[in-house]
Amino acid sequence: MAIDWKQIEEWDRKYNVHAFSTADEYAPVCIERTQGNYLVTPEGTKLLDFYNQLFCVNVGQNVPEVQEGIREALERYGFLWDIYTTDYKAEVSKILIEDLLAADGWAAKVRYALGGGDAVETAILLARLYTGKPLVATREHGYHGVSAGAAQLTRMVPSRSYASYPEERPRMVAGSMFQNTFLCPAPFCYRCSLGHDYPACKCARTDGKLPCVAQTEEIITSHNLANVAAIITEPACGAGTIVPPKEYLPQIEDMKNRLGILWIVDEVLMGFGRLGEWFGYQAMADRPVKPDMITCAKGISSSALPLGAVVVSREIADFMDSIRWNHVSTFAGHPLPLAAAKANLRYMQKIGLPALAKEAGEYFRRCLGQLADRYHTIGMFAGEGMFFQLEIVKDRSTREPFVGEDRFTTFTGDTSRWPVHLISAYAAEKNVLVGGFVPNTLRMGGACNTTRDELDAVVDALDYAFGRMEAELC
Ligand SMILES: Cc1ncc(COP(=O)(O)O)c(C=O)c1O
Repeated sequence: MAIDWKQIEEWDRKYNVHAFSTADEYAPVCIERTQGNYLVTPEGTKLLDFYNQLFCVNVGQNVPEVQEGIREALERYGFLWDIYTTDYKAEVSKILIEDLLAADGWAAKVRYALGGGDAVETAILLARLYTGKPLVATREHGYHGVSAGAAQLTRMVPSRSYASYPEERPRMVAGSMFQNTFLCPAPFCYRCSLGHDYPACKCARTDGKLPCVAQTEEIITSHNLANVAAIITEPACGAGTIVPPKEYLPQIEDMKNRLGILWIVDEVLMGFGRLGEWFGYQAMADRPVKPDMITCAKGISSSALPLGAVVVSREIADFMDSIRWNHVSTFAGHPLPLAAAKANLRYMQKIGLPALAKEAGEYFRRCLGQLADRYHTIGMFAGEGMFFQLEIVKDRSTREPFVGEDRFTTFTGDTSRWPVHLISAYAAEKNVLVGGFVPNTLRMGGACNTTRDELDAVVDALDYAFGRMEAELC
């Protein structure tokens, strides 16, 4: 049946609450279907999705093996809640613990959730239950979700659900305070909030600790270790778009062991091949590390159906085994998303997805290097696998950003001339989608199995976009 897209646009404008723009600014982007790395418009235009729908369709769209897995489960199950055992739930947990994580020697059991933020809620609940302590440390520019508990940990200013207006000051969400959480520095070497330069900062102390880790330890200790349950970190900041130096996570691990607190790694965006390893913490560390919990979503099912999960250590699993835990969320453990996850993970294993991402990332990094030789507004780029951070500056030598607020933006005033929006708009003219939530920063990456031809198309679009942006802004 033909779809009347004019009618759809009208209903969409009229009946949906939209984020990111006022109703007047809102411009619907209708998508008729998805295919591989592409979104297809009703007119048949294929848009190469190089932000992978919020970095979550790790194997690409509409993979027949994943579709078949869901179809099979649909034949067998309507719905079962969490007290029932299904082969899907048992097998996905087996894959996570035995196939993907056994070599790291810490992971023991899995608890399912509705999505990423819900997995974070579950992880901090478990941390507080297990330790009996209330406080969770988080970091500048961290993103962990929009639900109440996860939002306490989200310190990326533009992602705190506030209302901003074209001209007035933003309206923060009433009552949305930072309860039982506190803030530590991010490993944001390009614009260090402690005023250091990397790697010279490593010489600032005799014990070799990065100043951001030393400061984190001091802040945690100042809250009294009797009160601190855990620290949560992303492996690399996804929404905040920051790739840390590889000694950072190992030093966080040393610190949490010294202090006797838990370390939750939020793998919602970086897990399942994104950084060229199964998990982000494996790719972002210069030696093996062991978290106490990881949170997963997005790539676990390549988002064919929504699913979240928390993987916990042997110690936490033993504790949970020893109590009667009164905890239920109706849809957590739903057989259909777990069937999608099973089919997705089996397919990832079959094609060796992390290695494909690693190879794609190595090629893309070389291409970005060539672009950086041509455009002085490319201040730096970093990343691997299919996740890259690219900082856009007035001049590489001064690092001066076009938008001074940078990661503290509140989206007031005219944002249409922000570098991230200009580059996105010009790349879109070439049917390539890139973007980001920071005014001076592109965050880029396709499905983990993005091909060289697709990467070349992205590079051509970026070449065109930077050329136009520099002609206009410089
Ligand atoms: C690191 C991280 N944690 C949590 C979340 C929240 O996940 P969800 O949007 O599925 O609630 C996200 C979403 O992008 C994320 O990147």
